[in-house]
Amino acid sequence: MSRIVFVLFAAILTDALTAGQVNVEPNTALLNEGDRTELLCRYGRTINYCRIEIPGEQKVLNLSPEWSKTPGFTYYGAGLQAGQCGVTIERVKASNNGQVKCSLGVEGEELSGTIDLVVALRPQQPIIELLSKPNREGYFPEGTQFSARCSVRDGRPPANISWYIDNMPANKRTSQLEIISTPTNDNVELSTSVQEIQWHLSPEDSNRKLVCRSHHQTDRETVPPQEAAYIINVRYAPVHQPEASVYGLYLDHTAIVNITIRASPLPRIEWTIEGLVVSQGRTEGRYSAYEPQYLGNDEYNVTLAIAGLTLEDTTKIYNLRATNELGLTDYQVRISSSSKPPSNSLDVAAIVGIVVAVAVLVLVVLLLLFARATGRWCFGGATLNTDIGPDSEAQIHPAFNDEEELDGQDNGDEHIDTTQQSEEATPPVTDKLEAQKKADLKKTAAATAAAVIAAGNGSQTHLNGAGGVEAPPKPPNTSV
Ligand SMILES: *[C@@H]1O[C@H](CO)[C@@H](O)[C@H](O)[C@H]1NC(C)=O
Ligand SMILES: *[C@@H]1O[C@H](CO)[C@@H](O)[C@H](O)[C@H]1NC(C)=O
Ligand SMILES: *[C@@H]1O[C@H](CO)[C@@H](O)[C@H](O)[C@H]1NC(C)=O
Repeated sequence: MSRIVFVLFAAILTDALTAGQVNVEPNTALLNEGDRTELLCRYGRTINYCRIEIPGEQKVLNLSPEWSKTPGFTYYGAGLQAGQCGVTIERVKASNNGQVKCSLGVEGEELSGTIDLVVALRPQQPIIELLSKPNREGYFPEGTQFSARCSVRDGRPPANISWYIDNMPANKRTSQLEIISTPTNDNVELSTSVQEIQWHLSPEDSNRKLVCRSHHQTDRETVPPQEAAYIINVRYAPVHQPEASVYGLYLDHTAIVNITIRASPLPRIEWTIEGLVVSQGRTEGRYSAYEPQYLGNDEYNVTLAIAGLTLEDTTKIYNLRATNELGLTDYQVRISSSSKPPSNSLDVAAIVGIVVAVAVLVLVVLLLLFARATGRWCFGGATLNTDIGPDSEAQIHPAFNDEEELDGQDNGDEHIDTTQQSEEATPPVTDKLEAQKKADLKKTAAATAAAVIAAGNGSQTHLNGAGGVEAPPKPPNTSV
C-alpha cells in the first residue's frame, strides 16, 4: 500500500521537475581566465525569451539566434522553439566568477536556472613561515622540533599543498590542509590554503632544502607549480662513525692518517696516541695534528701526520676527539702499511679457494665411494690385501659378492688360490713381522672355517671345491 503511494509520489515529483524546472549544462564550469565556454539552460517547450545574467557584466543579456548585441557574448543552443537558452562566452574574465542565472520566458511565466561559473585564479606564491624559531645565526640545534607553516593565499579554487625535502617527498607529519575563505569586495571570493609540517631535526637535515609546492588548477606546462623553499641549518655535535682504517702507508715515510667527520659548527680536534695528546695545529715528537679542513656540506678532513712511520706505529690505535658547542665525539683510526683492506680482495680469493677446495674434496669422496661400491679400479687389486687385514677384507667383500653373485662360489675359490700362491712367492726375508701376521691370520681363518664346517650349514659343494685344491680353507665370509 505504502509502496504504491511512494511510486505515485515519485511520479508526481519527476513530472513536476521536468515540467516546471530548467535543466542546466554544466552545473559547474571550472575555467581559467581567458577561456571560451558554452553554458546552456533548457526547458521542455518553446520559450519566448532568453535572459542571462553573468556576474561582473553590467548588462543583462537578452539573447536569441537572430541578434547579438553585446560583443563577446552570443546565443548558444538549438533555438528558442527548442526551449534552449544558452550563451557562449568568448573570453571569461576573473570578475565573471559566481552564479550565472538564466531566465526563460514561457507560457506567461518566467522560469530560471543557475550555473556555477568558477574562474580559476592563480594563487599567490606560497609562503613558508617558521613556527619554531632558529637562533640568531639561523641555526636549529639537533633534536629541535622543527615546525613550519605554508600558506598559499588567494587562489580559486583553493590550491593543494605538498612538501619536499631536497626534491624528495618529505614524508613528515603534516596537518590537515586548511582552506580559509578570503571574501573580497564584489563577487570575487578567494581561498587561502594552509598546511603545517613538523619533525625532530637530525644532523642529516642540515643544509637540506624544505619546499612547499602549491598545486593549482591554473598550473600548466608553461606555468609550473609555484613553490617556496627554506634551507634548514642544523647545529650538531660531531657525528659518530665506526672505526676507520687507513691503508697503503709506507714505512720510514711520513704517513698521512686522515678521517672525514661531520660536525656543525667547526669542531676542535685532539689526537691521543697511547697516552700522548696532540692538539690541532701542534706537533708532538713525530706526530703533527693538522687543523680540520672544511670539505663542504659540514664535512671536515681531519689529518694526523706521522714522520718516519715505524712498524710499531701500525699496531697503535689513533684516538681522535672532536668537540664543538653541541658535544664531543671520539673516533678511532687504525693504520696499515698493506695497500688494500685485508677483507676485500682476500675475501674473494678465499671464497673462490674454499669453493674450489670443497668441490675437489666432494669429487674425490664421490669417486672413492663409487670405486668402492663397484669394486673397480684400484680396489680390483684389493684382493691382495684381503689376507693382510681382516678389517679391509670385511669391508670389501659384501660389494664383491653383489657383483659376482651368480658365479660367486667358484670365483671366490680361485681368488683364494692366487692369493695363496703369491703369498708363498714373496720372500719371507722382506718383513718378518708381516709374515708372522699373515701366518697368524691364516691360522685364525682356518679356525673359523673349521667352525663353519662343524656347524654343517649345508655348504657341501663349497667345501668340496675348496678341499680339492688342497689349500687351507678360505675365510668363511668370502662366499657365505
Ligand atoms: C587537489 O587535491 C584534491 C584532493 O586530493 C584533488 O582532487 C585535486 O585534483 C587537486 N587539485 C590539483 C590542482 O592538484
Ligand atoms: C683520506 O683521504 C683520501 C684522499 O684524500 C680519501 O680517499 C680517504 O677516503 C680518506 N680517508 C678517510 C678515512 O676518510
Ligand atoms: C685531507 O688532508 C690531507 C692532508 O692535507 C690530504 O693529503 C688529503 O688528501 C685530504 N683528504 C681529503 C679527502 O681531502
